[in-house]
Amino acid sequence: MAIPVEELLDIKIDSAVFASLEGVIPELVRRDPYSFFEHERERSGDIIVVSDGAIADVEFPVFRSSVGNKVYVACGFDTVRQIVSDQSSFYQDYGAHMDILMGENQLAGMNPPLHAKYRALVMSAFDTQSIRNITAELIEPIVDGLISRIRQSEKTELVQDLACRLPVLLIGQIFNLPIEKYNDFATNAGALMMNAYDWPGAVAASKALGETFEEIIEERRRTPGSDLISDLIHAEIDGEKLPDSDIVSTCRAVVPAGIETTVKALSTLMALILDQPEKAQIVRQNLSLIPAATDELLRWNGPAQLLPKRTVKDVEIDGTSIPAGSHIYCYIGHANRDPRHWEHSESFDPERKRSQHLAFSFGPHFCVGNQLARAEIEVVFRKTLEKLPNLRRDPEAPEHSVQGVVFRSADFVHGLV
Ligand code: HEM
Repeated sequence: MAIPVEELLDIKIDSAVFASLEGVIPELVRRDPYSFFEHERERSGDIIVVSDGAIADVEFPVFRSSVGNKVYVACGFDTVRQIVSDQSSFYQDYGAHMDILMGENQLAGMNPPLHAKYRALVMSAFDTQSIRNITAELIEPIVDGLISRIRQSEKTELVQDLACRLPVLLIGQIFNLPIEKYNDFATNAGALMMNAYDWPGAVAASKALGETFEEIIEERRRTPGSDLISDLIHAEIDGEKLPDSDIVSTCRAVVPAGIETTVKALSTLMALILDQPEKAQIVRQNLSLIPAATDELLRWNGPAQLLPKRTVKDVEIDGTSIPAGSHIYCYIGHANRDPRHWEHSESFDPERKRSQHLAFSFGPHFCVGNQLARAEIEVVFRKTLEKLPNLRRDPEAPEHSVQGVVFRSADFVHGLV
């Protein structure tokens, strides 16, 4: 670790920047979108057609289309897995507005043949051995430090004190970012992800991140280090060095991807431990369940729920014809709760037999950071159960809830230590 852990723990990070902006969606749907969409799926099949951004009079800003008035929402495990695996019929499509925010060559939005080449450059920073080292050298000491600070008080707000801190400190260290800018990175990562709800905020965040990465690239050119940004400066694709604009786009994609989703997953974990103490106790008594319980958490209430695609050609799915060039959203959150695929899909079952879920997607765009995210969640899960055995809801504090349609998380989770 480049910086002593105590110094890292003193860095101020404001959890409010990760708060959901999905308040425009009715609370009932926000809390339980799964039942709402399952009801619609039972009526219309795995493809739900959305006109003018609304389903059954409920408006979803994310489904307002820039190409015609219709978008399609794909539900169900088999259907979603088929779509995310098939690059011959479905392309990534975060839309022209995301190109404005992220730059054209940002990994999650790229398609063949360039996507695989850029992906290979990033993958090496997140291989199994790197994650083992990161876990031992960074994740374990940071989580120990955060929890020992929590133990010094009677009360805690776990999103502020734990969930929002680990991913920011970790990504900051892995990328060797300037520590005085950690809170800015967190703020801008949060604002970028909420672009469907606050466009001007997302544009400002994109600009700020771009300028900061340009400065860092300049600095790494002068003084190279052993980090992904330095590697990207020296990398070549088809014998050509990457233009700075592509290095910026890659960083601007990976840094928020590594922060926002994991903060949200950890907030859901905190809510779960307080809401279902009997399930937490099952895991506490058998810590070898943690890897499977982590996957179950991601299946049950993963942070990323909707993946945007575009049809490359006319397709027919589950009886619905979809013309080429249409927007289709893969609802991985629904796929992971598909009652045809999972028994008691609505329950978190820490003893559920481990099997493939789609929280990290599947196929060519499968999450590059999945091992890092799992490592973070597993360490937080284990250490919270071990070191905070009396952690419980604070009856005097506002009640938390896990909510969201595009992203799922709890904005705050108050507990007694
Ligand atoms: C619980 C935490 C996480 C979840 C649930 C998650 C989920 C996902 C999903 C669903 C995708 C596919 C996106 C798409 O197809 O449009 C994705 C892609 C990606 N994720 Fe994650 N992610 C998490 C954490 C991370 C972390 C920690 C990093 C890196 C530090 C990361 C980096 C990426 C990158 C770079 C991509 C793009 C991969 C590509 O398109 O080839 N993610 N993630």
